[in-house]
Amino acid sequence: MCGIVGVLGNHEAAPVLVEALKRLEYRGYDSAGIATINDGVLDRRRAVGKLVNLSDMLVHHPLAGKAGIGHTRWATHGAPTEQNAHPHKAGPVAVVHNGIIENFRELRAELAAAGIGHETDTDTETVALLAQHHMQQGMTPEAAARATIARLRGAYALLFLFDGEGDLMIAARAGSPLAIGHGEGEMYVGSDAIALAPMTDRITYLEEGDIAVVARAGVTITDADGRLVNRPVTQIAIDSARVDKGGHRHFMAKEIAEQPMVIGNALRHYLSDDGNEIVLPEAMPDFARVERLVLVACGTAYYACLTAKYWFEQLARLPVEVDIASEFRYREPPISPGTVAIFVSQSGETADTLAALRYCRDRADSILAVVNVETSSIARESDLALPIQAGTEIGVASTKAFTCQLTVLLMLALKAARARGEMSAERLSDLLSALRGLPATLNTAMEIDGAIRDVARDLSGAQSALFLGRGAMYPLALEGALKLKEISYIHAEAYASGELKHGPIALIDETMPVIVMAPCDALFEKTVSNMQEVMARGGRIVLVSDAAGVAAAGAGTFQAVTLPAVDPVLAPILYALPAQLIAYHTAIAKGTDVDQPRNLAKSVTVE
Ligand code: M6R
Repeated sequence: MCGIVGVLGNHEAAPVLVEALKRLEYRGYDSAGIATINDGVLDRRRAVGKLVNLSDMLVHHPLAGKAGIGHTRWATHGAPTEQNAHPHKAGPVAVVHNGIIENFRELRAELAAAGIGHETDTDTETVALLAQHHMQQGMTPEAAARATIARLRGAYALLFLFDGEGDLMIAARAGSPLAIGHGEGEMYVGSDAIALAPMTDRITYLEEGDIAVVARAGVTITDADGRLVNRPVTQIAIDSARVDKGGHRHFMAKEIAEQPMVIGNALRHYLSDDGNEIVLPEAMPDFARVERLVLVACGTAYYACLTAKYWFEQLARLPVEVDIASEFRYREPPISPGTVAIFVSQSGETADTLAALRYCRDRADSILAVVNVETSSIARESDLALPIQAGTEIGVASTKAFTCQLTVLLMLALKAARARGEMSAERLSDLLSALRGLPATLNTAMEIDGAIRDVARDLSGAQSALFLGRGAMYPLALEGALKLKEISYIHAEAYASGELKHGPIALIDETMPVIVMAPCDALFEKTVSNMQEVMARGGRIVLVSDAAGVAAAGAGTFQAVTLPAVDPVLAPILYALPAQLIAYHTAIAKGTDVDQPRNLAKSVTVE
């Protein structure tokens, strides 16, 4: 999604803004721009495509000035053209925006009636035009910004800069996050703390409805009711703001490689010192009394929820309903008493997931959030936030956040299984011991990298691919297909293996790679039968299994990727690794942009 930065500094603003925008690149964008004030005069530069185009433009047409705002745009209203790129400017006002102004057509019509036309296809330009209109009627910049914001409907983070006002930025948050950075005689604004990390580690997060009047001397914040408020200044851990690739070619590769470490962190966070007990916060609902769980999320986080359904239902005999947030929020499902709602999100800012959480606010007994970003809206609006300890995830394709989500959800399911008397102490102890060994198992499993490169070479020539899995491996197949689509742009679909003969088998011919995710478990023989059905029709199977599975599958398998054997309960976490590596190496073979795939945004803060 769009990224916002702003600086009131004591040095040239343009290089600082471009550097901060680079740190927001991971969010996904298709054009970028900055505006600065030099000798009291606003000027701007905008360019389509990657930031390097904006940097090039600034070499030939520099922008001086010590105050400025910048933006990376992920197009919603209007094509990614220079004209539609931010900052938008109307007379003395420049504005950058993340989100959607839902009533921009109505506002545009009002402005048109007053003789004020628009030049772009964007909703954001309307904000600048409205503020300009208010200033023409005699309002101060602050009053004009406030009057404009009061008219807006939708979700937004906004940052204003004004002609002749080199010591003023006005920031507003309604739905999309904004962070204010405190420097030494300098102030900053950013979509997140990562953008501001080189400048400051002292951050104030705006709350919903806040308006911040920023000057070099500090910030004044009013809440949604216009009351002056004190929002805390948080010291951000430098580590959480680090965004280097650590010697890897891509953030995605780094984040895949980090999984043994961060899963270890997640385990340590929720296990007792001796590792023999799962310790959850006191505010955690008593699973023995819970009648039903509702798990809601989007994308990869949704597949983590689908996997967790198998765990909660099979291990704890606790009924679970899983839904895609964008469906859930408008389906308005009945929430019966005894329901605990769990929202899973890496960013904690996904608009649909947040809206679904708000729907459950007064309906569910309790609202839990399984999040990576602990300062996020979803974390703050839940009754209890359970951090997944994955560390900053930059790659648009979620990897380590997925396996950490699975790890935390599995620990919750195990806790529930014990609390509900559905699991013996011995079985829990065995599973905890296997979980403690999982980081080491994952490290060993990294050796499949070579085999996966071979698979990826073949796959990179395919138009389409199928992923199959049974039981808890079915969501893993879905995740494998999503990863492949996202970063290699190869069409991929996933099916529960047993569903193949009910339709998708018609797709099978010698051009169709079929990736089968199947540890040698109780369902393995049935999966082998499904593989035979594919091979009998010339389909090219890639079997991802353990040594026993590869041996049992027999001859005729097109390619095999052999993972270490693990307790079947833990298999979904381990099998995420080949799903990620297959997509990664296929994207490398195809030469696509792994970390910033086309059209995608890291955190989806619009509907
Ligand atoms: O930040 P969230 O976990 O709420 O994001 C949800 C999805 O947008 C996200 O998982 C998306 O599907 C990823 N690009 C998957 O790799």
